[in-house]
Amino acid sequence: MHTVTVSASRPYAVHIGGGLLDRAGELLAGATKSRRCAVVTDSAVGPLYGDRVLATLERAGFAPLLFTFPAGERSKNLSTYGQILDFFAKNRLTRSDLAVALGGGVTGDMAGFAAATYQRGVDYVQIPTTFLAASDSSVGGKTAVDLAEGKNLVGAFWQPRLVICDTDTFRTLPGEVFDDGAAETVKHGLIADRDFLRLLMAGDLRERIDDVVRRNVEIKAAVVAEDEFEAGRRKILNFGHTLGHAIEQLSGFAVTHGHAVARGMVLAARGAERLGYSPAGTLEQVAGAVARLGLPTDCPYGADQLYDAATADKKRSGGTIDVVVLEEIGRAGTVRLDMAGLRAFVEAAL
Ligand code: NAD
Ligand code: GLY
Repeated sequence: MHTVTVSASRPYAVHIGGGLLDRAGELLAGATKSRRCAVVTDSAVGPLYGDRVLATLERAGFAPLLFTFPAGERSKNLSTYGQILDFFAKNRLTRSDLAVALGGGVTGDMAGFAAATYQRGVDYVQIPTTFLAASDSSVGGKTAVDLAEGKNLVGAFWQPRLVICDTDTFRTLPGEVFDDGAAETVKHGLIADRDFLRLLMAGDLRERIDDVVRRNVEIKAAVVAEDEFEAGRRKILNFGHTLGHAIEQLSGFAVTHGHAVARGMVLAARGAERLGYSPAGTLEQVAGAVARLGLPTDCPYGADQLYDAATADKKRSGGTIDVVVLEEIGRAGTVRLDMAGLRAFVEAAL
């Protein structure tokens, strides 16, 4: 088992390894005084892993409840969020109890937001079961739901108490869902660690999955420790996300988050290189890395659609938006664009 510590305002451990699911109760018991807990999961993960998680929690002396919602990004909305809160309230969850997010990023973001807001905040634990959630969304404390107007438009920063990642759970992931995690993994290499990127290009991720997840978490934890509330540095984690979110949104969530971010990174690299924010050759390396991991590099939308969707992005602040660009492979920064600048960037990106 690897353990990475996230030094946020509330520090916590991220445990990574095969076989951890059945030890979740014991690991959790050491990290919290709570003994009542509500496990939130989705309709695909619940039948696969719900019983095992309830059993380990019971063995460790917890009294767990289970809430299940229909799997998929389309559930990540105010309606499901409200149902989770109602479930907490009907079961008399109190501030000394615990929420447990068992699933992918949709479950983690939504259960985390419910935990952040129920009775002004209850503790929660992340048990990520997708490569993406393990490598990115379960760490760093961003919680949210989507609105019709855009992704993650309502949310809170609320750090988990603990993250337990059993990499064996990835064995049941459909190939495309696994690949969503590869997109955020490439992102971490591109923005922060050239050597890691080189390693990713060298072989099969699945064969070194524990190490790959660990390095992802280390990279993210270092950025979060520096800038937990995204005043500056943390923005680099959004590389490819402004146009990625736009693609996700425009597709009605038929394009999944990782696949949208993959395309968004290629667009951002092309736009930045053409406008002189990134050195020549950046696009070729970004597109090569994305394609090498089996992810798409094309964009099915035009400039008008992308621009309209991107202006709803929450990274916009008043009349400007900070777009992440690669200063070189392995190092990222941001450029502040006004709306005309964003329009020019989108046109250059296509
Ligand atoms: P997801 O949670 O929808 O999971 C993808 C699919 O895989 C779902 O159908 C789910 O039921 C299924 N699944 C999950 N684990 C499984 C398993 N072990 N075996 C079989 N099926 C399984 O999507 P995701 O890709 O995990 O996460 C995407 C979400 O994460 C997006 O909403 C995105 O905005 C969010 N996100 C958040 C952050 C953050 O910092 N909070 C970072 C990146 C992404
Ligand atoms: N996924 C972007 C962040 O956590 O900041």
